[in-house]
Amino acid sequence: MNRQLKPADISITLARALRRPGLLDSEDTAVVFYDLDLIASRISELKNAFPANTLHAVAIKANPLARILALLAEAGTGLEAATRPELFMALATGMPAERIVYDSPVKTGDDLKYALGAGVTVNLDSWEEVLMLERLAGRQPPAGPVGLRINPQVGAGSIADTSVATADSKFGVPLSDQRNRIVRAYRLYPWLTGVHLHIGSQGCSLEMMASGVAAVFDLVKQIESATGRQLSFFDIGGGLPVAYRRNETVPSVAEYANLLKQLCPGLFEGRYRLITEFGRYVHANAGWVASRVEAVKQLRNEKIAMIHVGADMFLRKCYRADQWHHEISVMEPDGSLKTGRDKSSYRVAGPLCFAGDILGKGISLPPVARDDYLVIHDAGAYTLSMWSRYNSRQLPKVIGYRENGKHFEILKKRETLQQVAAFWN
Ligand SMILES: Cc1ncc(COP(=O)(O)O)c(C=O)c1O
Repeated sequence: MNRQLKPADISITLARALRRPGLLDSEDTAVVFYDLDLIASRISELKNAFPANTLHAVAIKANPLARILALLAEAGTGLEAATRPELFMALATGMPAERIVYDSPVKTGDDLKYALGAGVTVNLDSWEEVLMLERLAGRQPPAGPVGLRINPQVGAGSIADTSVATADSKFGVPLSDQRNRIVRAYRLYPWLTGVHLHIGSQGCSLEMMASGVAAVFDLVKQIESATGRQLSFFDIGGGLPVAYRRNETVPSVAEYANLLKQLCPGLFEGRYRLITEFGRYVHANAGWVASRVEAVKQLRNEKIAMIHVGADMFLRKCYRADQWHHEISVMEPDGSLKTGRDKSSYRVAGPLCFAGDILGKGISLPPVARDDYLVIHDAGAYTLSMWSRYNSRQLPKVIGYRENGKHFEILKKRETLQQVAAFWN
């Protein structure tokens, strides 16, 4: 299955945005767009694939735009927060605490107090955090549910940097190395009522993800027979891969849920509150960036198109070009799609002051001219959220749209010079 937005549809939307009075101005050299219909349909797919009482706590780190968090809250999802500021933002949406999950890999006592006070679900990451909670709570149960992040140690997917369930991963407590200690902790602390795991983000097969869930499910059965009590929640994390290359096929969320059902039917019988934490799956394919071309330089063997976005927004692509990919298409100044057979090889470079600010090399594109737009596809997750302050560039305007651009909404204004300067105060 491949459900990336098509260049032709993006071209229709861009042309409509360019024609819409007051939406864009000459300072909008790069603009981020989100197809809000696509985000809504991904949420429906999640809801249809898992039991109705599943909490889909969408990972804020993938896309923290406040307006999008609010739309997710309206759509009935939850939110997964990886830091105290993300937790603050989740609470600021007005979402009830029982739909918020706090997962930071490094929590202070103050972080824990804040989260416990808010009554959100907390997943502890280390034995130090377990002891911290013991000191905070004594033997009194905390207000919200508390789980422990288990590393099922199932190995790495195809991207080492985003694989978090290797034998020596920094995340959680390692299952095969410390199984007895984990069971003892659940016996000792009745307030440990759930489990959490996450295998990796992009690059992990469904089989690998499901085998991690099955290993932790097996642990839960052991904990329940050792303690004589039933755990209340099972958080399977995120990690569903998406398509970045044209013609790339990826599994659907329904396939994942079916595989989990086969391996651990007990997870789907309503005994546990299931929690998911998908981020990339919800956002990646819905976002794209249109940047005006400012210059085209002829080099010895290749042309270079100079644009207004680069390693400031596409950190992963620029620093690990071997691991990440974005398709790029060319649109005319009025938004119409440039096609044609007279393609040549281009390098696409961003505006930052370092040589590695390159979004792609040897890309075959139709002729690119000054004032055209280059569209960078599938840019909705782990892009704006990783924005770099190097060279103090302004965050671009972010526009949401429905029905291919019949309706537009500014999700975030372009950052002002004053806001950028204030960041460094
Ligand atoms: C604990 C946790 N949950 C969920 C996610 C979201 O993963 P993805 O965006 O691949 O679904 C991440 C991402 O790294 C994570 O670390």
